[in-house]
Formats: sequence, C-alpha cells, structure tokens
Amino acid sequence: MFGRVKSLEAIMATAEKKSLHRTLGAFQLTLFGIGCVIGTGIFVLTAAGAQKAGPGLMLAFAIAGAICIVAALCYSEIASMIPVAGSAYTYTYATMGELLAWTVGWALVLEYAVAASAVSVGWSGYFTGTILEHTFGIHLPAWMVAGPLALGGSPGGVINLPAAVIALLVTWLLMIGTTESARVNAALVLIKVTALTAFMFLTLPKVDTANFNPFLPAGVFGGFGTGVGAVGAAATIFFAYVGFDAVSTAAEETKNPQRNVPIGLIGSLLFCTVFYMLVAAGAVGTIGGQPIMGPGGVPFPAGSEELARQCALPQYADMLVCSKEALAHVLRQIGFGTVGNMLGYAAFIALPSVILILLFGQTRIFFVMARDGLLPEVLAKVHPKWKTPYVVTFLTGIATAVAAAFLPVGQLADIANAGTLYAFMMVAIAVMMLRKTAPNFPRTFRTPVLWLIGPATIAGCVFLFFNLPTAAMLVLPIWGGIGLAIYYLYGYRTSHVGRGLVEVHEADDDLPPAQGVN
Ligand code: ALA
Repeated sequence: MFGRVKSLEAIMATAEKKSLHRTLGAFQLTLFGIGCVIGTGIFVLTAAGAQKAGPGLMLAFAIAGAICIVAALCYSEIASMIPVAGSAYTYTYATMGELLAWTVGWALVLEYAVAASAVSVGWSGYFTGTILEHTFGIHLPAWMVAGPLALGGSPGGVINLPAAVIALLVTWLLMIGTTESARVNAALVLIKVTALTAFMFLTLPKVDTANFNPFLPAGVFGGFGTGVGAVGAAATIFFAYVGFDAVSTAAEETKNPQRNVPIGLIGSLLFCTVFYMLVAAGAVGTIGGQPIMGPGGVPFPAGSEELARQCALPQYADMLVCSKEALAHVLRQIGFGTVGNMLGYAAFIALPSVILILLFGQTRIFFVMARDGLLPEVLAKVHPKWKTPYVVTFLTGIATAVAAAFLPVGQLADIANAGTLYAFMMVAIAVMMLRKTAPNFPRTFRTPVLWLIGPATIAGCVFLFFNLPTAAMLVLPIWGGIGLAIYYLYGYRTSHVGRGLVEVHEADDDLPPAQGVN
C-alpha cells in the first residue's frame, strides 16, 4: 500500500485537462480565505478559549495563528505544484502512497464535516440568543436548544434543534446545486469584518488593564490531556483558522499562482491573526475573561456539565466564559445592546456560508476518493438535474446534523482540530518529500527555508495535538482505526491505482465549481 503512489503525471494530466479559467487575483483569493476562516471560532469559541486560558486567550490566538502561517507556507508550495481538488489527500497520494492518503482523506472528514457541525452549533447560539430572545423575546425550552452536554449554562439540554436544522438546510442548498458566488462571499466578508471592527472600536477604548490580571490563570501548559492553559486554548482556538486551506484548492483558477496563492493564504491568515488578537483583547479587557475554577485551581472543562451547572448560578451567569454568543454578549454588557444585536445578525447571516464551504469541501474530497476507487462509486453519483453529487452530500449532511444536535461546540471544534492537525502535518511531510523525489518538477512557489518551515509545521501540529483534551485526542486514532478497517475491507481491493487503472479524467465537470470562486 505504501508502494501505491499515484504518479504526479497522472494527477497533473487531470488538472491540465480541467483548463479552468484563471480569473482570481490576490485580493479575491484573500477575500475567499477570510470568507472560509472567520466564523464560529471567533464569534463563539472565544468563550471556551477564555475558560481554558483566561486573558492568555490572546497568546493562544498568536500561537495557533503562527502554526497556521507556517502550515500555509507549505500549502502554498504544494498547491502551486499540484493544483487539483482533494488537496491534502491528493498530495499524500502522490508522495506517501495510498494507505496514508486514505488516512488523510479519512481525517479530513473531521476537518470538514465535524467542523461544519461545530459552526452549526455556533450559529444556533446566535439564532436562539440574538434572534429569538433579544429580538423577538421568544425563549425556547432548554431541551431543544442544546445537546445533552452543551456550553452556555443550559443543563437539561436534549437536542440542539436549530443547529440540526441549519445543517440540514445548508445540505439541501448544496444538493440542489447552490454555490456561493464571489460577490456573495465578498458581501459576507464585508459584513463579518464590519461587525468585528465595530466590536474592536467599541471595546478597546473601554479596556481596563486590571482585567488582564492574572494573565495566565491556568498557566501556559495546563497539563497533558486537560486542554487548559494558553496552549490548551490555542489547540481549541486553532479552529478559528481552519478553512484557509480551501484557498489552495482554488490554485488552478488563479492568475499568476506563484504570487497570488501565497498572498491569498498568508494574507488572509495574517489579517485574521491580528484581528482575532484585538477582538480577544477587547472581550477580555472589558468584561473580564477569567475562567471559572474547579477543584485544585484547574478551570472546569469547557463544554462540561460541571461548567454548565456553575454558569446557571446567578453570580456567574453574565461571565464571558458562560456565553453562547460571546461577542454580542460583551457588547450588551458594556451598554451597546443594539450594536450587540447587530453583531449577532452578522453572525446569523454569515455563519451558514462557512457551513456551506465546509460541507462543500467534504463532498469534494469524498468525490475524489470515490473517483479513485477507494469509496463506493454510488457516493459520487451525480444528480441528473441538479448536477451535484447528491448521495454523498445527503449522507454527509445527515451525519453533520446528528453531531450538531448532540455535541457541544467546543468539543466538536477540538475533534475537527485533531483531524486538521494530522492533515497539515502530512502536507508538510509531502512538501519535503517532493523536494527530494521530484526536485525538478515545476513549482510556481517555493516555501522559503523549507527545511526550517516544514519541521516547524510538523512540530507545531504535534504540539497542538498533544494539548487537546484527552477525549479529542483519542477520537483521531479511533476514527483512524475505523477508517483502516474500511480500507482493508473495501478500498484495498477496489482501488484504481491498486488495480492498475490510472485513468485520466477529462474534467471534474460533474462537480459544481469551487465555492466562492465561480
Ligand atoms: N474557521 C472557521 C470558523 O471559525 C471554521 O468557523
């Protein structure tokens, strides 16, 4: 299986035949990146991050941002070299062979589908808070707005109905062939950035530096498996950057990719890192962001039942760490109720597009894996009228909705991060391997000082992974084990490369065009 490497030539032949128009410039790519990236991470997980690190949340954003930037430098080289759909999975197939490629494709389910669940739960917080409670005065019963273990001080949750409904609604839109145009993406980015900018302008002048004390109430390292401390928060808040790799899949639709893909990837990440740190400073510096401490001076785990019980107590109810719509809550607390609601509307409008992009990415990866013979072909079946891979979209959507209905946002984000970190690590390894195995293959972008950046990416990913809570860490090997069983029972025999069928596809013409770039 390690020998089953898909040749670069076969991959490139597919890409070349695609002959997509090169229309995207650096600015559009950066907008596309920001459109995928800004979402539940900053709008919602700020609360979970503060519960893990207190004001050290700012440091957490810097750590996670730095690791994503080195990963993005690796992505830039490989995306400019192998600009095809399926990104990390395809890159691994070309370097480390089918078995590892399968594990990457399988881990990407966590990055995309589980992340879509997390964003759905984040959206649900703003829907029930800003829209229903603060706008219409409607209070839904606790059992239907939170899963059994949801963050936000709502013990008694049974099912997060709004989260499941939005996941299914977006799935339906994708099934009938909805794609997001560059113009809609630009408008949504504008809405999100305006909301966050307003947040910064209103909060930063009101910052009281006393709120930054103690800066690291849970330390830098909170302890293996606890998921707390500044690096524990970084491992969770890493989610706020997930999605930038979608830019790499648009490489073949980019003018002058050598210049523009790295600008798009790194530009969107740098922008978000600075923005996020300032937003975190505004949130923590105004209403305070100290964690609620449990026994032994260790913060209660974010998303835990204990924390939910504490948050239900009147003295804690208004704390940042208890809010399910963190940023709107901060604005309300400091006397800007109307702007707080408007920020809530921005999240309400823009988060579904993040779900759309993530679910789209998932179906595209499954599609490519099915095309390689590693998944049943029925999954890649395209609807005659809608022209979409509706079977795989439907199944992915159902799974996403179920996860969104029953799990808390922080835990979903941690699980998504585990899969993403694995994929990023494999991309860094693939870039370094290709420098050795295909030194003369044309690269329109070369990662500067790769022998430093590559190992730094690997170390950063491993480091963040081991700072996730134990449960999230365990999901990766368990999910991987299930994947391996499926591979040996199915994909190993049906693989096209394994059977010597190295076909060249005319085009991904049966797939809808890339999100946000059509
Ligand atoms: N980075 C995206 C978000 O925070 C997935 O919602």
